[in-house]
Amino acid sequence: MFFHGTSKVNNQNHLEIGGVDTIELAKKYGTPLYVYDVALIRQRARQFKETFAEEGVEAQVAYASKAFSSLAMFQLVNEEGLSLDVVSAGELYTALLAGFPKERIHFHGNNKSYEELEYAIKEKIGCIVVDNFHEIALLEELSKKHSWKVPVLLRVTPGIEAHTHDYILTGQEDSKFGFDLKNGQGDKAVAHAFHSPYLDLLGIHCHIGSQIFEVTGFVMATRKLFEKIASWKDELSFVPRVLNLGGGFGIRYTSEDTPLPPSQYVREMVTEIKSQAEKLTIEIPEIWIEPGRSLVGDAGTTLYTVGSRKHIPNVRDYVAVDGGMSDNIRPALYEAKYEAALANRMNAPHEEKVSIAGKCCESGDMLLWDIELPKVESSDILAVFCTGAYGYAMASNYNRMLKPAVVFVENGEAQLVIKRETFEDLVRNEVGLKSKV
Ligand SMILES: Cc1ncc(COP(=O)(O)O)c(C=O)c1O
Repeated sequence: MFFHGTSKVNNQNHLEIGGVDTIELAKKYGTPLYVYDVALIRQRARQFKETFAEEGVEAQVAYASKAFSSLAMFQLVNEEGLSLDVVSAGELYTALLAGFPKERIHFHGNNKSYEELEYAIKEKIGCIVVDNFHEIALLEELSKKHSWKVPVLLRVTPGIEAHTHDYILTGQEDSKFGFDLKNGQGDKAVAHAFHSPYLDLLGIHCHIGSQIFEVTGFVMATRKLFEKIASWKDELSFVPRVLNLGGGFGIRYTSEDTPLPPSQYVREMVTEIKSQAEKLTIEIPEIWIEPGRSLVGDAGTTLYTVGSRKHIPNVRDYVAVDGGMSDNIRPALYEAKYEAALANRMNAPHEEKVSIAGKCCESGDMLLWDIELPKVESSDILAVFCTGAYGYAMASNYNRMLKPAVVFVENGEAQLVIKRETFEDLVRNEVGLKSKV
């Protein structure tokens, strides 16, 4: 069995995370329960930051908050001195409520509304990552209205798509995000933003994919960007002060995944950027990255209580738990794979192969297929590992399931950071039909 971060088996044969017995957590807070290993999040944040410092370059590591956005997470990220990437007014609101420093917030999104942009501008956040010409027009209007030159990055699609071990050179980027570099949109946007009296063009952004296990895609994207930077330098005298290479650094969900340490991604990116900048005789731009999954993914574990089971002779055994696609949509959405263990009998020998079903009314609500476990009994606590990214963030009230609670564990202490929803929460915004009498 592979243990992430501080996870281990304690002398009661229980799964322990952050020095806390997960069976005690399940008893105290109920299940399903998301448990975050704070030390592991801190360790990852520091690995990214420290490598940039060792390389002697100016950098910002911005947590891509879509992976798991909450007050506690934003406070933790702030404690570690990271920046923050938000993609909606809701994420921005949460960040501000958490007291996150405005100047380190970056606002993403392919369809930011006038109201969202105005909110960000009134708060004078660090920068807006501009996605399209419509947004440029909105920003210029808002800049005039609020007499503020808006700091922006332009998001471009460099024609590189990276996923796990592959990267693909795409001719025409078929993506809803960003300005295409191949068809001239990127050049037009850069020229416009650079000359605009309303925009302070800090630099360029690109994000090439997710769950990436190779540095090659980032290196190729850097080269593509520098080909363009060379022409922008010659034709416009524009040289970016910031280069943001996005997120997508892979993590280990199962034994099939072989991620690189954060330091390796950072080192090789920096090496390439330094060498390209030297060739062009320009200053090394400030390098920004946006890890989401790699900061929180394997730091999260979901605890479930086992309920019913169904045996189909010569086919399979279904074991059902008290959550499912409502707290983890990833298996149903894109066949994501996980590993799991019985948290209350960690060292018991594996005796059977079972498939873990959720309790939602969908045949597709399956969390894991064909995993080896000890003989599973009703009331066992099943721990599903690596659920920290895009789990709670994508949780829903499908079937009127209550969103689970979230606890942070560190140094033998547990802290409830999000309460479990209640039935009252489910109907809080409902007004029902008008009475006919
Ligand atoms: C622009 C941008 N940055 C960062 C991320 C974070 O990616 P990951 O969680 O894979 O690191 C995403 C994910 O969709 C993204 O779209």
